[in-house]
Amino acid sequence: MIKQKTIDSVLSAIQIEDVIGDFVSLRKQGRDFVGICPFHDDKNPSLHVSPRLGIYKCFVCDAAGNSVKFLMEHEKMSYPEAIEYLAKKYGIQLEYENSESEEERRERTLRESLFIVNEFAEKFFINQLKNTEEGKLIGLSYLKERGFKDSTIDKFKLGYCPDSWDSFTQEALKQGYKEEYLIELGLTGKSQNGKLYDIYRGRVIFPIHNDAGKVIGFGGRILKKDSKDPRKYVNSRENTIYHKSDTLYGIFHAKSAIHKDDNVYLVEGYTDVISMHESGIENVVASSGTSLTSGQIRMISKRTKNITVLYDGDRAGIKASMRGIDMLLENDLKIRVCLLPDGEDPDSFAKKHRDSELKEYLSQESKDFLLFKTDILSEEAGSDPIKRANMVNEILKSISCVKDNIERAFYVKECSKIFGLSENDLNLNLRRYVWNKIKEQNAHSKTTQESPSLNTNTQTHSTTPQIIDTKPSLQETRSDLLFESEKDILGLLINYGNIEILINNNEEESNVTRIDQFVCDQIQKGEISFHYSILQKIFDLYTNWASYILNQEQIIRNFTNYDEPEVSDFIIKNIIKEEPKYSEHWVKKYDIYTHTTRNNIRILQNMVQNVILSYKLRVLEQEAENIQKLINNKELPEESVNIGLFQISEINKSKLAISALLNRVVSKV
Ligand code: CTP
Ligand code: MN
Repeated sequence: MIKQKTIDSVLSAIQIEDVIGDFVSLRKQGRDFVGICPFHDDKNPSLHVSPRLGIYKCFVCDAAGNSVKFLMEHEKMSYPEAIEYLAKKYGIQLEYENSESEEERRERTLRESLFIVNEFAEKFFINQLKNTEEGKLIGLSYLKERGFKDSTIDKFKLGYCPDSWDSFTQEALKQGYKEEYLIELGLTGKSQNGKLYDIYRGRVIFPIHNDAGKVIGFGGRILKKDSKDPRKYVNSRENTIYHKSDTLYGIFHAKSAIHKDDNVYLVEGYTDVISMHESGIENVVASSGTSLTSGQIRMISKRTKNITVLYDGDRAGIKASMRGIDMLLENDLKIRVCLLPDGEDPDSFAKKHRDSELKEYLSQESKDFLLFKTDILSEEAGSDPIKRANMVNEILKSISCVKDNIERAFYVKECSKIFGLSENDLNLNLRRYVWNKIKEQNAHSKTTQESPSLNTNTQTHSTTPQIIDTKPSLQETRSDLLFESEKDILGLLINYGNIEILINNNEEESNVTRIDQFVCDQIQKGEISFHYSILQKIFDLYTNWASYILNQEQIIRNFTNYDEPEVSDFIIKNIIKEEPKYSEHWVKKYDIYTHTTRNNIRILQNMVQNVILSYKLRVLEQEAENIQKLINNKELPEESVNIGLFQISEINKSKLAISALLNRVVSKV
């Protein structure tokens, strides 16, 4: 462990604008600095940095904290790593407590050592490539043949490992690097008779950097076609600093271009990334030949929500990778797809065309993923009705991954045009998939206890959870207002869930959504969550039943007959409105345009908005109250009190905005 005394001297040396300024370009504004927030897809500078308070805060997303937190969030450092980084930056010598557990110390020194060994290896390979006869003749000439410029070779730190048994390993040992580290990193192998050998011998080397630019591993490409070794690439083995599933090749060099373009191109291989750079496109990363992992998706989505996937011209892999793309949709990413001409990959295509042609091609040929998928599947299914039906369901499944209901509605419209099926029919099946997904998520969140849908932060203001926890208190005092609000939400769901209403998204846009769908969308977006176990339980039951029961009255009957009195009594006493049949009338299509129905729907529409807005208001009130309590009761450091007061003022702003909306809604009734 680092001694607290030295941590303190690091903390007091920090100038937050310098720390953040190394990653985000900041502009002075009054006493503070502003910049583009790196934690969401920011268009205007929403990140405010206050040197006076030593904090940053984004006015759009939830990001906020001090310098250390920034490094932890942005650079994914651990706490000690952040302190060490800052100590280095400010030239402060850290002292360590002996109390660091043996294991912690070993882990830390292991990570440090591995990075150091990798750095040595990277330099060694570069030197071999540039300054030795063999390297120049074999490695460099290969790279030149592929058309890579010297400047690119330098930028990506490409290298060469000589084609001898162990020249790299011997040099490393001679310089004092430990055998066990060389083996751990997958640079050196040990044969059965104990002889050490170079794993990368005779290969050109593509170092792999993390997003802070440190070498975490290597890919080595074979040169000789007649080699006995059939592996085209050798890659680092998994170890504490290299996790293939959390690695995107090229991320370090792509970072700033991703910001600028608010888009990232996803390709397969090392050479694709490099060739795109040579053609002037720098916002490009490679998944290195595998389908995307959730770790990689996280790395992307914290930088941009827009991905363009480049597909090789041969179609074999396309279908297989489509499933992976559904995962991107679930993460709220906007995905486009660009199919290259037959037989081309991004590398070969970039090499054959001028920079401007490549750019033109990418912008002309990039298509929305779901429409692309529709085309591909449609081509494949031909006119076979069963195949076509399967295909439609396959596509609806993808659409169900889209979180935003307006986007979903748009896709349904497109599909209805393409397949000549009614939007109603499509919606019916789509609804099933959406509900199944919600059901799965509920089941999942119960096992992990960590579901985003239970997040109490509303999006209208920011919090700094590390300093002040603003979660509404969970004690089950059923008289409280929040409880009433949450109960009202369930009332809407259960009594009127299947009724379609018009939701105004903003001044111009509105769309038709079922009430239960609307509520679930809000829950998925983290705008609503249930804080009381009985309410959560009822909600779970509802989502479960709604996934296969289309008749609302049946759902109500399930509740009233439920064999746990806690639930059935509660439903009967608190939830069911006098006339459960009432709602059934409204959905009958032939009735929907009668005067009374229209009027009723208008009232219901206002009611939904009213209930949701009141709920939000109450969550905010509760949060403000909790913060106030903390400030009153505890001996908080001044910095935290300031943040707390700031949070309260932000909450008050949000409350005002919501109250204003609420007044509008109420006055309409
Ligand atoms: N890959 C790998 N091991 C292999 C083959 C491929 O790790 N045996 C990974 C590499 O990250 C590679 C990516 O998959 O970059 C894409 O593979 P491929 O298209 O075959 O390689 P390229 O990088 O395009 O190499 P080249 O253009 O030299 O053929
Ligand atoms: Mn290739």
